[in-house]
Amino acid sequence: ELLSAGAAGSSKGPITLQAVDGSQRPAQISLRALKDETEAHMCAVVTDLSGPQAVAAQLRAALAEKELLLREVHHRVKNNLQIVSSLLRLQAENISDERVSAAVHDSQNRIRALALVHEQLYRSESLAHIDIGEYLQNIATSVWRSLSMRGSPIRLVSEVINGISINIDQAIALGLIVTELVSNSVKHAFPTGTAQGTISLRVRQENAVLHVEVADNGIGMPPQINAGGGSLGMQLVHGLCRQIGATLSFGEGPGTTVVIKVPMSKPEA
Ligand SMILES: Nc1ncnc2c1ncn2[C@@H]1O[C@H](COP(=O)(O)OP(=O)(O)OP(=O)(O)O)[C@@H](O)[C@H]1O
Ligand SMILES: [Mg+2]
Repeated sequence: ELLSAGAAGSSKGPITLQAVDGSQRPAQISLRALKDETEAHMCAVVTDLSGPQAVAAQLRAALAEKELLLREVHHRVKNNLQIVSSLLRLQAENISDERVSAAVHDSQNRIRALALVHEQLYRSESLAHIDIGEYLQNIATSVWRSLSMRGSPIRLVSEVINGISINIDQAIALGLIVTELVSNSVKHAFPTGTAQGTISLRVRQENAVLHVEVADNGIGMPPQINAGGGSLGMQLVHGLCRQIGATLSFGEGPGTTVVIKVPMSKPEA
């Protein structure tokens, strides 16, 4: 079939080559008819598809497929975490004890922070790094929105440098840290309500150190909490900082300023 099509003009198709040792290799043959006034010839080009170029093409295809699958996994993990988060929200709505309901609500926010990592990853170009400014801003907004009362006068402002890439482990830890710090500012900084209540998030990079700052102009944190006390929330913050090799410090009052400095690990390509 290939031959008669080739004789009529040109043809191309898969064939199998057999080596002297009997092993078989995939190949492709291209045939083209060449005619001059007196004679008809046929030109045949056989390409060994097991050569380095062919292997490279196969690798590229495999890599693209892997990326697609990974994106799909991130999408599903995000959807599943979102379901868990919704379940917790529904549960919180049906609990009459306010303290229990608030605790369930906090868990919902912590899970939402995790879901956001996967959401941002499957949307982004790189599957290994995350734009940390964009991510933390999304988290701060989501926590602030979920905890502020309707018509709450507390504002959230952010000064975030975009385009800073960070690895996923560090991003997840920072997401949880920002969740705790913004929750604290909303819940504790303005007990009497204030018209000028502002929470701010700042993210920037200095040399190879990422600076993340969460501040509010509220009543300030009690000194024993600065010293490392606190309940689950602040303990989580300290533990996560240790985990990613970050340092935590408190700025001058009034209000509360928490500064986290993270040494940025070299991106692994
Ligand atoms: N931004 C803030 N302004 C004023 N007080 C704060 C602030 N952040 C924390 N605090 C005080 O520090 C305490 C400890 O905070 P921590 O986050 O550890 O616990 P929590 O918020 O009470 O409970 P959770 O474990 O749910 O976070 C709070 O109860 C509050 O009194
Ligand atoms: Mg807290």
